[in-house]
Amino acid sequence: VDSLKGKDLLTLLDYSKEEITDLIQLAVDLKMLTKAGKCPPLLEGKTLGMIFEKHSTRTRISFEVGMKQLGGNGMFMNARDLQIGRGESVYDTGHVLSGYLDGIMIRANSHAMVKELAEHASIPVINGLTDIFHPCQALADILTIHEVKGYTAGLKLAYIGDGNNVAHSLVIAAANMGMHIAVATPVGYEANEQILEKAKAIALENGGSLFVSNDPIEAAVNADVVYTDVWTSMGQEDETVKRLADFKDFQINDALVSNAKDDYMFLHCLPAHREEEVASSVIDGPNSYIFQQAENRLHAQKAVLASVMA
Ligand code: CP
Ligand code: NVA
Repeated sequence: VDSLKGKDLLTLLDYSKEEITDLIQLAVDLKMLTKAGKCPPLLEGKTLGMIFEKHSTRTRISFEVGMKQLGGNGMFMNARDLQIGRGESVYDTGHVLSGYLDGIMIRANSHAMVKELAEHASIPVINGLTDIFHPCQALADILTIHEVKGYTAGLKLAYIGDGNNVAHSLVIAAANMGMHIAVATPVGYEANEQILEKAKAIALENGGSLFVSNDPIEAAVNADVVYTDVWTSMGQEDETVKRLADFKDFQINDALVSNAKDDYMFLHCLPAHREEEVASSVIDGPNSYIFQQAENRLHAQKAVLASVMA
């Protein structure tokens, strides 16, 4: 995607509908070529630095494998082992890393810190999850819906659970695709109001809609896609007991999904807690696409890497 060359991916709010659509198409093409053993070495000789302040399975491995498949190299760095972990400034780190690397992928506690790093790095910075956004996840989610349903515009997406980073990026991506989005969270766990407003405007521009409530059933009614995430995100472990109680009516189970369309898709960014946010019968049932979704992190991110680092 030519217009993305050299660009950061901090949030999909910075990307146009055309850019997101083109990334999904590029991901489809790269997935096909890769499965045929013909992934083009678009990033030959390039190195992506991968900085993690938090745990990861999918993000770490899919970025590292993706770089390798594109002919480049992904370098894992635990933030605690870097000097930034003992107080070196983001400013200096951004400048120094720009002298060695061709791109940075970072999973961080604070979105503000990632923005600051991107300001001071002359190379593209890709957000691998912050407290506010998880854009790479949302691209993989849209890719998965596109593969399973054949299209995305006009489909109803129900996000039921915590109004968190995953929810924010998902509603922005789905709004660009012209989907009808219903977000249901418990009272007090609503998604960020400004992000919801922006997503709503984008959805309306694209023939979709966005509806917010505290009622999981209302959200699930007639849904083509039912999506949830953990109730307690990384860094919120102190709140686990309270959250278990506050979210108890928001479990995705057989009763709740009986409101959705018969051929609904269940999605979850993973990792999941079975019998908490989702019943085993749903996540391990015939309507669940979680492993295709997880694999698609690889393909969607390769499209991003090939576009911004080319
Ligand atoms: N979905 C996701 O980002 O998974 P990891 O935390 O394993 O990277
Ligand atoms: N909302 C979760 C997503 C993990 C991929 C978290 O931030 O921990």
